[in-house]
Amino acid sequence: MSRPVALITGASVGIGEQFARQLAERGHDLVLVARDAARLEALAKEIEGGSGAHAEVLPADLTDAGQLASVEARVGVVDVLVNNAGFGTFGSFHTLDVDTETREIDLNIIALVRLTHAAASAMAERGRGGILNVSSLASFQPGPSNATYSATKAFVTSFTEAVHEELKGTGVSVTVLCPGFTHTEFQERANAPAGDVPGFMWQEAPEVARAGLDGLAKNRAVVIPGTANKVMGNLSAVTPHAITRRIGAVVLKRATT
Ligand SMILES: NC(=O)c1ccc[n+]([C@@H]2O[C@H](COP(=O)([O-])OP(=O)(O)OC[C@H]3O[C@@H](n4cnc5c(N)ncnc54)[C@H](OP(=O)(O)O)[C@@H]3O)[C@@H](O)[C@H]2O)c1
Repeated sequence: MSRPVALITGASVGIGEQFARQLAERGHDLVLVARDAARLEALAKEIEGGSGAHAEVLPADLTDAGQLASVEARVGVVDVLVNNAGFGTFGSFHTLDVDTETREIDLNIIALVRLTHAAASAMAERGRGGILNVSSLASFQPGPSNATYSATKAFVTSFTEAVHEELKGTGVSVTVLCPGFTHTEFQERANAPAGDVPGFMWQEAPEVARAGLDGLAKNRAVVIPGTANKVMGNLSAVTPHAITRRIGAVVLKRATT
């Protein structure tokens, strides 16, 4: 019998690499998407050597409309889609490069929406499938010094929760994963000062990916991995934005001075 196929974006490193390893362990063949073809090839070779999985490499910059279209075309026939690729930027919005800010929207929102649409329509027709969208704990409140990133993730959480409800009863599972601080390349790429974040707030990529995949298997609408993150996320969700945005501004000011 052929194995189900999972397509993972941002699979070259970090949480996405863990999704790839764990989906292979759970019996899936893989389609690995990111820009760094060499890293994807190395991962595919390692996974194929250590499991019965076939791993196809599909290098693409998802902020490029043409390359995104080639991934959309591939998504129509997969059993599981993990929209994991994303990046953040750090600093006062008006001081940041506006082209990078809009690229962040292209990757974190536009690519995720287009791939979710391509996958959801094909999966709904087949009556089965799973879509796991990676958001963030940052999605639950405005993020001073992280304005665009937090807003993109607020979109991802709200959008995914809505699609989860729409597809109930169709056989298609839709889950949003909202990680907190996780040891990956994310903070360095975002130029974010993560040094002051207390140790208990950090998680490792394998446990975050596992929580997401377990949540998708149960068709949970929202998954917040880790006890500390659950407390933070649930508190943020019930606290008025007028309070959470000011707390965020004070915490971020302390982290940067
Ligand atoms: N780490 C955290 O603290 C944290 C917390 C909350 C949420 N998240 C979210 O978790 C997800 C995974 O992040 P991570 O922590 O694993 O970060 P990471 O280590 O920086 O990995 C990001 C992945 O996205 C890929 N990517 C970046 N730009 C891309 C583009 N234009 N086209 C295609 N792929 C692209 C990268 O590969 P290439 O460079 O090879 O393209 C890489 O595989 C993101 O959505 C992030 O927002 C992370």
